[in-house]
Amino acid sequence: MREVKNIVVVGVGQMGQGIAQICLMAGYNVILNDVQDIIIENAANYIKIGLKKLEEKGHFQNGLTTEDILKRLDTTTNLIDAVTNADYIIEAIVEKLDIKQNICGIALDNSPDHCVFASNTSSIRITDIARKCNNPANVIGMHFFNPAPLMRLIEIIAGEQSSIEAMNIGVEVGVRLPCLRGERYVPRVLKDRPGFIVNRVLAPERIYSDYVYDIAHEQGIPWQEVDADITGPNEPMSRLVLADFIGRDVSFHTAEYYCKALSPDFAPGQFVRKQIANGNLGKKTGQGFYDWTKGRPKPDLSKKAGIVNPMVYTAIRANEGCRVLEEGVCHSWKVIDEAILAGMNFPGPMRAATENYQQLAELLEEYSKKLKKPYLKPVELLKTGNFVKMV
Ligand SMILES: NC(=O)c1ccc[n+]([C@@H]2O[C@H](COP(=O)([O-])OP(=O)(O)OC[C@H]3O[C@@H](n4cnc5c(N)ncnc54)[C@H](O)[C@@H]3O)[C@@H](O)[C@H]2O)c1
Repeated sequence: MREVKNIVVVGVGQMGQGIAQICLMAGYNVILNDVQDIIIENAANYIKIGLKKLEEKGHFQNGLTTEDILKRLDTTTNLIDAVTNADYIIEAIVEKLDIKQNICGIALDNSPDHCVFASNTSSIRITDIARKCNNPANVIGMHFFNPAPLMRLIEIIAGEQSSIEAMNIGVEVGVRLPCLRGERYVPRVLKDRPGFIVNRVLAPERIYSDYVYDIAHEQGIPWQEVDADITGPNEPMSRLVLADFIGRDVSFHTAEYYCKALSPDFAPGQFVRKQIANGNLGKKTGQGFYDWTKGRPKPDLSKKAGIVNPMVYTAIRANEGCRVLEEGVCHSWKVIDEAILAGMNFPGPMRAATENYQQLAELLEEYSKKLKKPYLKPVELLKTGNFVKMV
């Protein structure tokens, strides 16, 4: 397998900066590329500050300094210059298919033949990104979680035409990138399906959440009581504060995406549509479920509304995990659990489901009828418990 020495990070916004930092820390030569000098300067500065902090904490070994590491950093707004000697390109630009296709084509046309192009897309099919380039075998997905230096998971995704060698190189680079919070977990995603592993398994629970929001809204139940229903005991931020923090529009667009890519049952609920129409997008507009005008809300979660069955969330996750296995996205329920733990810092649903899958399947039969959402019906692997053998 070809050795990777030179990495180019294209798009150095929120994700690209962190990705470039860990590539440097792993010992690679790194070039930052973006559309404006000022963006690149900001990214380089962010990386320098991050490295300095780590140096002060004694993180580097053998007397290595930030200055030593930064000698391997270069920058340019010219993509063609950036990729001339690249072995590996990581793309973290805006989430727009035509722009990603264009960058992929230019990058592979102007880099050495062996160069791998890895996209950090969170939702676009890798096969589509590679569609217009001359070397789709060299295009893979490399899905980081935010922030890349802290989150252990990197999903390496095969597009329909990705070569085994490109996948192997992706995994090799991934495991070499340091993580400040433990050991990297770098699973192979074997089918180019929406949401890959982690985002996919967690996607359909929004169908139940939207149902709960609609009931709460109709019955005038205070949001902190709903929040108390759905927030687990050790979660650093309550669920509805987190939803406001991320932005109701982000959640709405994700739902629309899954609505097209997976099932119309993902269509956003009445209340969510109202929030969007009224511009109540959460933190960014000062109002979402909560009022943010005086800073981060601190809801009193001592009283529950009692309208949520937490087991339904567990069942929906386990069912989607089984769907991911049925589609061949990965071949082991343990990979799903490991990936969720590494990417989200909470346990995956599958191990527990090996004990109570029958109960979960019955619950889903009941709720798919109650919510009139056929997508929530239990799939064969869950109903039969046959996923248990897929280790
Ligand atoms: N933010 C997250 O939590 C997260 C997590 C996983 C994956 N992603 C994915 O990572 C990618 C980047 O997301 P982000 O949040 O860092 O976005 P961002 O807006 O912070 O950064 C995108 C950067 O790409 C640059 N850019 C746009 N067009 C370019 C071009 N033609 N050439 C070079 N640079 C260009 C922009 O100037 C900007 O600096 C997206 O595909 C997103 O879906 C994001």
